[in-house]
Amino acid sequence: MADAAITVEGARKEYGSKNALDGLDLTVTRGTVHGVLGPNGAGKTTLIRILSTLLRPDAGRVEVAGHDVVAEAYAVRLRIGLLGQHAALDEELGGRQNLEMFGRLHHLGARRARARADELLARFDLADTGRKPVGAYSGGMRRRLDLAASLITEPEVLFLDEPTTGLDPRGRAEVWDSVRSLAGAGTTVLLTTQYLEEADQLADRISVVDAGRVVADGTADELKAATGGDRVDVVLRHAGQLGAAVALLPLTGVRVDPDRRLLSAPVTDRMAALSGVVRALEEAGVEAEDVALRRPTLDEVFLHLTDRTKEAA
Ligand SMILES: Nc1ncnc2c1ncn2[C@@H]1O[C@H](COP(=O)(O)OP(=O)(O)O)[C@@H](O)[C@H]1O
Ligand SMILES: [Mg+2]
Repeated sequence: MADAAITVEGARKEYGSKNALDGLDLTVTRGTVHGVLGPNGAGKTTLIRILSTLLRPDAGRVEVAGHDVVAEAYAVRLRIGLLGQHAALDEELGGRQNLEMFGRLHHLGARRARARADELLARFDLADTGRKPVGAYSGGMRRRLDLAASLITEPEVLFLDEPTTGLDPRGRAEVWDSVRSLAGAGTTVLLTTQYLEEADQLADRISVVDAGRVVADGTADELKAATGGDRVDVVLRHAGQLGAAVALLPLTGVRVDPDRRLLSAPVTDRMAALSGVVRALEEAGVEAEDVALRRPTLDEVFLHLTDRTKEAA
């Protein structure tokens, strides 16, 4: 596809007898942010390492920025940036010096390296901290500097492997803003995450990965609509009646949360389900504080998908 920045077809990777990628398929459109969402051990880092030419796939076709990652690894490297789980910053140097050093390493020349460092510091809101040693940075600042360093060469495609893991909520929000600004500037971004909210916030499209394969993909809205459809939530006045309510309501697949006096279930026909629930509660004399229809959360989608994969295995 001409507008694909990343194409992965049937990628496989084994470590000994461990199948890390098990026929993974993925297409990322140029200029979009694509989220690869999956639990620990799903194969996310393995995928990033293959896409960034650090690891060869055992089988499958993998192209990045129009070049094959095995046959044309060098051409791929010229066009990508990578934010790994740990970047090679010098703790004693300031942010500006680190970025200049990265620029020189990438053959920018002194003047160009300095200009690029200033540009990136401004872009990631680090201009005032240019001289502070990186060792004294907060987690969020540090990650933004990592991000700036990965952009020294103005990559077409940027890989972010769990960019906010280990950050506090404020640091996470800072990194999210930075990723949004990148996307606005036209860079194709592939980011991996274990956080559903992160994928929901940042990604134009999401591939849900489990056990080395894509179990679902689409926009966050499509994923929510495709799995489980709408849900009905019922909050009871008395937690003691939850068991009775589950038995009498015309619902299946009910989940109960006693702390919130809540029961929740997927529904197909929204209006019929809503009126059926209200009627059944009235007839049984069970008091409800709230009865509401809603879309599923991405968490529920994810649980649903990964449960189904385990059942099938
Ligand atoms: N170097 C390695 N040797 C053996 N097994 C590995 C190695 N790297 C990863 N794995 C295994 O491959 C699977 C996928 O790992 P990884 O790609 O790191 O997943 P994720 O990044 O989603 O947590 C896991 O089961 C992991 O234990
Ligand atoms: Mg990983």
